[in-house]
Amino acid sequence: MTKGTDASSHPSGDSRFAVVDKRINRAHHAQDQLIEILHVAQDVFGYLSEDVLLYVAHALRLPPSQVFGVATFYHLFDLSAPGDHTCTVCTGTACFVKGADAIVRDVSEHYGVTAGTTSDDRRLTLRTARCIGSCGLAPVVVLDGAVLAHEDPASTLAAVAGAFESDGA
Ligand code: FES
Repeated sequence: MTKGTDASSHPSGDSRFAVVDKRINRAHHAQDQLIEILHVAQDVFGYLSEDVLLYVAHALRLPPSQVFGVATFYHLFDLSAPGDHTCTVCTGTACFVKGADAIVRDVSEHYGVTAGTTSDDRRLTLRTARCIGSCGLAPVVVLDGAVLAHEDPASTLAAVAGAFESDGA
């Protein structure tokens, strides 16, 4: 990392803002880069908190209402902190035709969490994605950052259970 992007140099004291700054600077603070910048912010923070949304709004000189509107409109953005484990089921066309919906349904029913939310005990966040670019592996699930190929409801439930077990619970 170069000195200019040294996390510790960020006034907030939170190194992750330096990563967002870097992307904003590279976009020359262009307002039409809002979605890209929100993606970067979500990648580094894990979700888009109110503070982060206000930060981006200020940096791009956009009304906060507009930034909040965009963040809530696109289901790929998560405005609440994820749970201990995150299970993202790709529901793009290739995955859908091979049964992704059944995976979403079964995980949802088993853990009592609807897609796009986190279970009440904060242990599992269930998400869907439109296509993660691995259609040859359909149906694809991303569990805690690991890509699982050719999934079905049983294998995904087993993988999630395994992740829980690794917590010692
Ligand atoms: S549709 Fe699922 S990876 Fe492309």
